[in-house]
Amino acid sequence: MKVLVVGGGAREHAIAEALKRSPQVELYSAMSNANPGIKRLSEEVLRAKETDIEAIKKFALKNNIELAVIGPEAPLCAGLADALLGEGIACVGPRKALAMVECSKEFCRNLMAKYRIPGSLTYATFDDAKEAASYIDAFDGDVAVKPVGLTGGKGVKVVGEQLKDKKEAKAYAREVIERGIGGGKVVIEERALGEEFTVQAFVDGRNVIAMPAVQDHKRAFEGDKGHNTGGMGSYSQSDGLLPFLTEDDYSFAVEVIRKTVAALREETGEGYKGILYGQFMKGKEIKLIEFNCRFGDPEAMNVLTLLESDFAEICARIAEGTLSGKHVSFAKLASVCKYVVPKGYGVNPAPPAKISIDEEAIKREGATLYYAAVNEENGEIYTTTSRSVAVVGVAESIAEAEAIAERAIGHIKGEHIYHRSDIGKQELIEAKLARLKALRGE
Ligand code: GLY
Repeated sequence: MKVLVVGGGAREHAIAEALKRSPQVELYSAMSNANPGIKRLSEEVLRAKETDIEAIKKFALKNNIELAVIGPEAPLCAGLADALLGEGIACVGPRKALAMVECSKEFCRNLMAKYRIPGSLTYATFDDAKEAASYIDAFDGDVAVKPVGLTGGKGVKVVGEQLKDKKEAKAYAREVIERGIGGGKVVIEERALGEEFTVQAFVDGRNVIAMPAVQDHKRAFEGDKGHNTGGMGSYSQSDGLLPFLTEDDYSFAVEVIRKTVAALREETGEGYKGILYGQFMKGKEIKLIEFNCRFGDPEAMNVLTLLESDFAEICARIAEGTLSGKHVSFAKLASVCKYVVPKGYGVNPAPPAKISIDEEAIKREGATLYYAAVNEENGEIYTTTSRSVAVVGVAESIAEAEAIAERAIGHIKGEHIYHRSDIGKQELIEAKLARLKALRGE
């Protein structure tokens, strides 16, 4: 089977590795950077922007691609799946009308309200700064200010975190509207407090097969301090839950995903085919923070490293609409993923620099390596402004998986890089549990 992977990050490297575990897969890739991990798995690479729909379509047709797995949200929001489906190429990744669940935060909240999907937040949308300011003034409590459209994960600001008070919230809402950030429209939402967690699901248009829960770490520095990033690392637990997540919490999150898939079908007249990612917050209740129309990054590395079943078959079945629970199984093990990033990542990243990666030593530690936003030039690896390399440890316990990842990361060297050593460590997990208990009054 000829399969095209779109995207050049660690998420797409994990997708490519998982696909290549199937002997029948002949892999092709399209990416803007030169990811050496994806390149070495590919018959041919197209270097192009992931949103260059015409170039990707031409490349897919030239290589008789049968199935495309689209990694990032930007090409999905730009209509890449529509273009490929129009040429008879099956896709893992929804059409634009369904990807709207991520591409427009307004669409997402309106859908949840219309179909009475539980777990939503109080919200309103504005394209007028004065009206947004009146709403914020009258709002009983702290708010989150979110541009409606895509902002590469950098648009959301919350009172009590990036914003000091309502005055700053109003100023930011004005900035979003006046500067056209994320389309120049803003969603004002109630601030959700608690511990974030991710549940991702394979969706074949109708059937929803949920994956193990994962917790990402967005903050740049140890102890969950500093600015938000795309995610510095993540962990999952052997039973598919998390240290603070009960079976009932997980079932509630899966039910929110199921109801959303049904609502999307009702609303658009079409089935969602791809990965649906729910980012939830457990506080006093469970709330949906946002949906993504793709695997999470780094969460993809946790679940795809644990996946035991044939990922190529899962993808083919997603496209055909014939997926069921019997086609999907995950190892009952814990996983810890840690990212190496350039210093200043997320605010003022260090200029591209050479890093050295001892792949054999990482393998000997029992870890899996995924290349991210790096470029390979003349056999050397250079950082870019985004995340560089991820390592994943898998073991019976989170603590053992963390130790494997930490040892592996010692084999990645460079002057201008760092990682968060605390992700997956017992101390950080206990601090999270204590914070949540206090919030819930337990
Ligand atoms: N881990 C956050 C995201 O993938 O958007």
